[in-house]
Amino acid sequence: MKYSELDRTGLLQEQDRCRKTYEALKAQGLKLDMSRGKPGKQQLDMVSGILTILSDPADCLADGLEVRNYGGFSGLPSAKALFADILGCRPEECFVGGNASLNLMYDTISKAYTHGLLHSEKPWSKLEKVKFLCPAPGYDRHFRITESFGAELITVDMTTTGPDMDRVEALVKDPAVKGIWCVPKYSNPDGIIYSDETIQRFARLRPAAPDFVLMWDNAYCVHEFDGDFVPFPDILSLCREAGNADMVFEYASTSKITYPGGGISVMAASEANQKYMQKLMTVQTIGFDKVNQLRHVLYLKDKAGTLALMKKHAAIMKPKYRMVLDMLEREIEPLGIAEWQKPKGGYFVSVNTMDGIAGRTLELCKEAGVVMTPAGATYPYGVDPRDRNIRVAPSLPPVEELQQAMEIFCVSMRLAALEKLLAA
Ligand SMILES: Cc1ncc(COP(=O)(O)O)c(C=O)c1O
Repeated sequence: MKYSELDRTGLLQEQDRCRKTYEALKAQGLKLDMSRGKPGKQQLDMVSGILTILSDPADCLADGLEVRNYGGFSGLPSAKALFADILGCRPEECFVGGNASLNLMYDTISKAYTHGLLHSEKPWSKLEKVKFLCPAPGYDRHFRITESFGAELITVDMTTTGPDMDRVEALVKDPAVKGIWCVPKYSNPDGIIYSDETIQRFARLRPAAPDFVLMWDNAYCVHEFDGDFVPFPDILSLCREAGNADMVFEYASTSKITYPGGGISVMAASEANQKYMQKLMTVQTIGFDKVNQLRHVLYLKDKAGTLALMKKHAAIMKPKYRMVLDMLEREIEPLGIAEWQKPKGGYFVSVNTMDGIAGRTLELCKEAGVVMTPAGATYPYGVDPRDRNIRVAPSLPPVEELQQAMEIFCVSMRLAALEKLLAA
């Protein structure tokens, strides 16, 4: 029964039914959080071995470095080798940082503003105008970094193969366009893997700005929850081959491999970029936490070890995604009021409702005790022009709670759609 095919009486009857269901669920007084992509407790407990793997001080000598002491500014060599193995780049292209890749991303943009990047004519703060491309729906924290420095954010639509590349290629002809945010594998929130063609077009981009930066956030590089690891090209090699070696900065972290907040991160870039950036970075820190870097090397070992661990995460994650997708298929699909991707990795399910009801749906969810990512968050400036994208983050609640949360979510969306249709 598509809602669009119901007459007014049918809509009112359906509204009555949904309202009763909603009130009954609301009366349960639930308090559920599906707002951010956090691993659940079971996942955190599963990797507890990392807490004890380094207990003997004699093991703190690694790669010829005393990890408890200063030294090794750009990271433990074996931690660089670990990330290079995972990303497919070279160890010497890796800078291993602290517990948040977002911090390294912020720092790159911040340095572009204060000092300029390797090929900048001036620091961006000295320019009249800086524009930054934001594929949307996308990751709110990316958008906020560039917004906080005063860049004008330009929305580029996401397609099923990645950002709309015709638009990207046209926009980069403007020298004020200084970069783009990308989550190339299991994009946040759509869970889309950029196609080979999209990746090649990025590598071969010919921006007017000499210091255009491809912010390649490979946060979900090994995060399949359904099926085997999907190989992914190394963007650093592709850019180098296309004569754009210094255009790209790639980021990743172990936030959703071991602990968010207690993991390690990487910034991969050409050796020329590393030399330039590290000279600036030595002013701000003597180095990141090599003890934790060593713990991660001992625990994950290499790409194969990391992928084996990700299979265990997948076993916990998959039933949660199944639950979300099954509920949407059963409760929403026949009504024709929303569409969504069916990701096989990453941390989200991105739902596009009929226009104009995302905000109202989330308001109803909140009233019934379910907190979700705010409507609009996946768009620059927090404004979704069609008020339709909702990011569902199923990883944190246990499956039973997730089912209750999804029941509330589905009935809230139905009510929001009915309100809209009845008001038309
Ligand atoms: C695309 C993306 N990048 C980065 C992060 C944060 O990573 P980190 O914990 O390494 O700062 C997230 C977390 O949700 C994310 O979705």
